[in-house]
Amino acid sequence: MKEKLDDLLRKALGELAASSSDDALQEIRVRYLGKKGELTAIMKGLGGVPAEDRPALGQAVNTLKDRIEEEYKSKLSVIRDVKKAEKLRSERIDVTLPGRRRSIGTKHPITLVTEEITEIFAGLGFQVAEGPEIELDFYNFEALNIPKDHPARDMQDSFYINENILLRTHTSPVQIRTMLKHAPPIRIIAPGTVYRCDSDATHSPMFHQVEGLLVDKGISFGDLKGILTIFVNQYFGKGTGVRLRPSFFPFTEPSAEVDIACVMCKGNGCRICKNTGWLEILGAGMVDPEVFRHVKYDSEANTGFAFGMGIERIAMLKYGIKDMRLLFENDMRFLNQF
Ligand code: PHE
Repeated sequence: MKEKLDDLLRKALGELAASSSDDALQEIRVRYLGKKGELTAIMKGLGGVPAEDRPALGQAVNTLKDRIEEEYKSKLSVIRDVKKAEKLRSERIDVTLPGRRRSIGTKHPITLVTEEITEIFAGLGFQVAEGPEIELDFYNFEALNIPKDHPARDMQDSFYINENILLRTHTSPVQIRTMLKHAPPIRIIAPGTVYRCDSDATHSPMFHQVEGLLVDKGISFGDLKGILTIFVNQYFGKGTGVRLRPSFFPFTEPSAEVDIACVMCKGNGCRICKNTGWLEILGAGMVDPEVFRHVKYDSEANTGFAFGMGIERIAMLKYGIKDMRLLFENDMRFLNQF
């Protein structure tokens, strides 16, 4: 009997040692120690053993059970440790790997140009002002001395919402809003979106302008020319020619159109400047006393100048863009160049 038990123990330990999985260990344990296991089978034969030998034999059986159990547990913990180590190894994170790059968009050329222009004027002491894109007739026309029968008011040029409300056709209403809110001196730059019923390679129904307004005591036409020349030299390069031509706007008197020497041919004449050597970039003038009357400014004590420029036109000149529509088609191949 003793030998049978020793055999059993040796076999069980051998099998436990050779097994390499949780399930296999479990199976061995059941096979030897379970209710229908080999040890139970041996115990059944215990009936034939003399009574005085039984305690010693019972003891031996218990020892064997304990040994198998012990071996089972220690092997189980070894297998689990190995498994855990393997799992830790396979799930290891290499914190030295570079992160996933998130692609960042680029600024739209209109945004770029707006920011650059604004920055130059900010450096000259101008503050940024804003106004609504949906505007009242009063601010967009009336207070700017644009009479009821002026062609700019025509349905063909302006997007009306009703008789009294329209999409602003220029950033000039910001002049009125600012002057109604603040007493002079005024020194503002007002970038924004404007709308006109017009659409081809050089016109878009939605476009952008930057408005400038400076009001103070003793401001002259010379100050206007001086400020604009500083701007042109900073934005288009030192020594860029500037020319003022007489023009007309209902809200400025006198008025001028401002040209710069062609950025493509440096004034020699090319297709872009239609062989004139000059490019028109903005409208400007001295604030009309009639405008001051609408905002209740004393036009004897104050004088000022205003100017307005189209951002698309400046962007097209700066970057050599031939068709304005490219600016609004959102083609990534175009936009990624900026
Ligand atoms: N508002 C004018 C336009 O849109 C431009 C301008 C602004 C002219 C200020 C003179 C003074 O054409």
